[in-house]
Amino acid sequence: MKIAVLKETAAGETRVSASPETVKKFIALGATVAVEAGAGAGASIADTAYADAGATVGTRAAALADADILLGVQGPVPDSLKGVKQGAWLVAGLNPFGERARVDAYAALGVDALAMEFMPRITRAQSMDILSSQSNLSGYKAVIDAAGVYGRAFPMMMTAAGTISAARVFVMGVGVAGLQAIATARRLGAQVSATDVRSATKEQIESLGAKAIFVEAVKGIEGEGSGGYATEMSDEYKAAQADLVSSHIAKQDIVITTALIPGRAAPRLISDAQIASMRPGSVIVDLAVEQGGNVEGAVAGEIAEKHGVRIVGHRNVPGRLAADASALFARNLYNFLSAFWDKEQGRPILPDDDEITQAIRLTQGGKVVNTRLLG
Ligand code: NAI
Repeated sequence: MKIAVLKETAAGETRVSASPETVKKFIALGATVAVEAGAGAGASIADTAYADAGATVGTRAAALADADILLGVQGPVPDSLKGVKQGAWLVAGLNPFGERARVDAYAALGVDALAMEFMPRITRAQSMDILSSQSNLSGYKAVIDAAGVYGRAFPMMMTAAGTISAARVFVMGVGVAGLQAIATARRLGAQVSATDVRSATKEQIESLGAKAIFVEAVKGIEGEGSGGYATEMSDEYKAAQADLVSSHIAKQDIVITTALIPGRAAPRLISDAQIASMRPGSVIVDLAVEQGGNVEGAVAGEIAEKHGVRIVGHRNVPGRLAADASALFARNLYNFLSAFWDKEQGRPILPDDDEITQAIRLTQGGKVVNTRLLG
């Protein structure tokens, strides 16, 4: 049972899908691990650290040869997998909707592709959820990035030269990233408010010591929403939300947006006119920029400036904390594979009728089998 750890090739990808810790744990389960040389470089993990943990380190061809499971952060270019064993598993964040053609190519290669971002939101799978582990770090980093660009301090400071008032931070979208953004901004001493469409988040916002700003006139999504996810809102709701945001945003110094709807473009939450109402020097961080953006004028990979307001649109925000993001991602993959490990066969087995299998399996036996892709 051989596990190959692939070096990421996507532009700007700094993370790696295994850490020396998870390599040791896989070996303890009875697997052998082959790491592609340089795989950990972006996350400051040297090849020697993997070798010390018991892995072999070499070329991609050497890693792929006879491998039963390939681990990645993002999906590898299918051509780079030529010669892979039939039925080998590819376990990674595969961006199935965005990279649909690759899914077909994995099927054609005879690879069983398992998309970790399709992990269901059930208690059993929490420790395997890459979206949660990475979003949590993104929420933290968004606030740190905002603080880095903002020309003022976050906490209130009373000095002999006078008082500096606390920054006002508004978080839009209170999922995993938003909750961490609220907590981080609070720790830095900001005055924090937040909004979401799911009513369950109101209590969570307040329990973190922030103010909940909610649309009252039109009903939002009751409770957690379906599987913890939001859906597209009605035009009536959108209009009420736009009014609410317009009256609130002009008084904010920092806005962090995180709103996503699975399988769809991110909802537009902030218009150019609303940006113009903000004080010059204010900062907006759009964490949804790679999914189409919550903010008009946000540009992926850039810090744009509109009406004197900086709009931060970094790509791959978890990759900006490569060491921690990799450590958590690697544990998510280990937690998944070890949960299905069959001791007698010395390898993981995914039962066809398991909710997790059905959610994440994209291809099998040369075919695309996932209902969300076939639908
Ligand atoms: P997400 O990344 O899909 O979306 C971020 C947030 O944006 C969500 O809170 C969503 O309601 C909000 N949003 C969407 N459209 C909006 C709009 N028009 N205006 C304002 N906000 C909008 O969500 P995320 O962070 O992945 O998770 C959401 C929830 O899922 C969590 O709070 C948690 O309760 C649940 N969850 C459960 C897990 C488990 O049980 N295994 C694992 C992870 C999350």
